[in-house]
This record gives sequence, structure tokens and C-alpha cells, in this order.
Amino acid sequence: SRLHLTEEFAEDNLGVKDNGDGTLTVTMVAARYGFFPPVIEVPTDTPVKFRIASADVLHGVHVPNTNAATMIVPGYVSEITTSFPTAGKYSFLCNEYCGLGHDSMWSRLIVVEKTAGGS
Ligand code: CUA
Repeated sequence: SRLHLTEEFAEDNLGVKDNGDGTLTVTMVAARYGFFPPVIEVPTDTPVKFRIASADVLHGVHVPNTNAATMIVPGYVSEITTSFPTAGKYSFLCNEYCGLGHDSMWSRLIVVEKTAGGS
């Protein structure tokens, strides 16, 4: 699959985008052995749609202490829509065996208190 090479998943287009309607879209790539970009920051109590593509093999993602989890199958875009009620530091962890670096495949999700003025 060449899906990960499409413009949406080009390196410069990854990360958090404000949809302008009170929701966010986060575009990420999963690849041996990490999630990119490696740090994502979102506000509390805001619907966030994650769109994640694999650059190589089957990966999975789950965010402990939240309901966010999915498989990331090469050639498909995996979507999770959720919101995070509690500020704090969370981790994206790979939960499908993907090779020798599987156990160290993770990245950071930082949830910050939503400010009164909006996002
Ligand atoms: Cu990626 Cu395990």
C-alpha cells in the first residue's frame, strides 16, 4: 500500500488540526517503532478524531486509562473519536506485536485543561 504516502499522511501534515467546529482531528503515522508526531497535545472535553495510518506493518494503539484503542492495518486509515475528561500525561502504546522494537513503541499524549476562551 502507498496510503501512508498520500498527502494527508505526509510528514508536514501530521499533528493536531482545529476543525473550526469545536472538534479536532489528529493525523498520525505508526511505524517501527513509534507514533509520529511523537508528542500530541489536546484540550480536555473536546471531541478528537484520530486518523492513523501504518507506514509498514500491522500495529495497534491503545491509550491506557481511556477508551481509545484500535488496530492499525497497512492500507487502511484507522479512526478513533473520543474526548478526554481528565488532564494529564497519557501514552500511546502499540498493542500488536510488530517486531523487535515492539515493547518500546510508544509516544506521548498530553491533555491540558480546556481554557474558558475555547480550544
Ligand atoms: Cu507497533 Cu507493536
